[in-house]
Amino acid sequence: MALAVQREAALDPSFVCNRSESVLSVIEKCLDNGLGRCLIVEDDNRLIGRISLDDIRHALVDGTAIIDSTLGWHLRDAGPTDAARHLRNDTEDDILKPILDARGRLTGVVTDRSMAPVQVAKPHLTHREFRSVLDAFISCWISSKGPYVSKFEDEFRKFIGVEHGIAVSNGTVALHLALVALGVGPGDEVIVPDLTFAATINAVLYCGATPVIVDVDPTTWCLTRKLVEGACTSRTKAIIPVHLYGRPAEIGPITRFAKSRGIAVIEDCAEAHGARYAGRPVGQFGDINCFSFYANKIVTTGEGGMCLTDSDELASTLRLLRDHGMSPDRSYWHERVGYNYRITNLQAAIGESQLWQIETTLRRNASIAAHYREALRGIPGIRFPPTLPDECDPVVWLACVQVPADKRLPIMHAAYQAGIEMRPFFHPLSALPPYSKYARACPVSDELAATGINLPTSNAVDDQVVARVARVFHEVLS
Ligand SMILES: Cc1ncc(COP(=O)(O)O)c(C=O)c1O
Repeated sequence: MALAVQREAALDPSFVCNRSESVLSVIEKCLDNGLGRCLIVEDDNRLIGRISLDDIRHALVDGTAIIDSTLGWHLRDAGPTDAARHLRNDTEDDILKPILDARGRLTGVVTDRSMAPVQVAKPHLTHREFRSVLDAFISCWISSKGPYVSKFEDEFRKFIGVEHGIAVSNGTVALHLALVALGVGPGDEVIVPDLTFAATINAVLYCGATPVIVDVDPTTWCLTRKLVEGACTSRTKAIIPVHLYGRPAEIGPITRFAKSRGIAVIEDCAEAHGARYAGRPVGQFGDINCFSFYANKIVTTGEGGMCLTDSDELASTLRLLRDHGMSPDRSYWHERVGYNYRITNLQAAIGESQLWQIETTLRRNASIAAHYREALRGIPGIRFPPTLPDECDPVVWLACVQVPADKRLPIMHAAYQAGIEMRPFFHPLSALPPYSKYARACPVSDELAATGINLPTSNAVDDQVVARVARVFHEVLS
């Protein structure tokens, strides 16, 4: 597999910095190039060293990089032996390697991920997030008061195309808040899919309501109208369709059916930012729709979440509940028992900047999944996610494949040995101890849970990593 080579003319400037450059500028380059490191040159383009975000972190914490705001401290600390070794390219574990001419001038770079450890997911934080967080931090507005919260709410709700956005501390409490706002409580039943992250059912249990677990559809991996209809009773108060792994549930028919029965719908869009059903973004369909911005999500704030709704009334209730049930118009007047589910200005600052790159992230993830498909095609036993009905326009959150159940552990073990993190699909809720009381026979979910693997999906996945992943599958399956 060819290494990713960039020659002088096309060299991305974020791979290179000058010894006189400020630490802030170097941090931004290291973030933007996605490698967390860059090469240092003199004015005449002679390579004199390299620097990583780890180097900078240490020097910021001990103050060295503050006292000397250029890279002098680093070049001194690296010492002549280190520098010489770096220039000879024999730092085997370094993914950024220089190409030099005879006079030691930088003419290009090679990104070599042949040995690099690869995580299943990693947020891409750029200079935008860095600047916003610094801004929020220096302003001292580090709690939920601060301009980034409403900015983020407004931009995200506009991105999805909904009237109100209520940002909260994480995706789990977004679901909880939505259920409480819709009046779900003891005696009510709430339909949830068997295959999802546990937060979906936990939120139902927080309310004292009864979760009704339903199997998923073999094509979409999500709830369908038919499955939901079969599980409805006179006590059904709400349905939480989850758009699993970026694949939209049959949300149009589900919401139409729910409406006809006076049942509320809460979309769980934690894994599907930007996915569409019948041309409309998911997150537009339910009464209240919930997103997670956990660090591995398509848009991240580290920890964070949001409830979206078109209803003015529900939006007011959600805001009240998020803030201790406190009246917005009368200090310390609590109208009902509420929660502290607020997001901080620091988190919202990250989220607001992340929105700038969401289309790029979605294109990148789709391209990574396509590359995996190409590289893994034909390996015995591999299955790719089924083609969805025309109405569904999925996104890739984490690329997925299925393998024979007895081969999954050996594959994940071989991947681990090769420095590659893979994740098994979620366990079916029915198989997990806290939910045994609500367990149902869910053969489709069982099969997916036993055979599914999430593959690394981040900026760190290039052709070389795809080839390493393919080698792992070949080793075990061929
Ligand atoms: C489907 C689903 N729902 C809810 C959540 C909960 O979100 P959070 O981790 O932000 O609480 C997650 C993920 O983390 C999820 O994948």
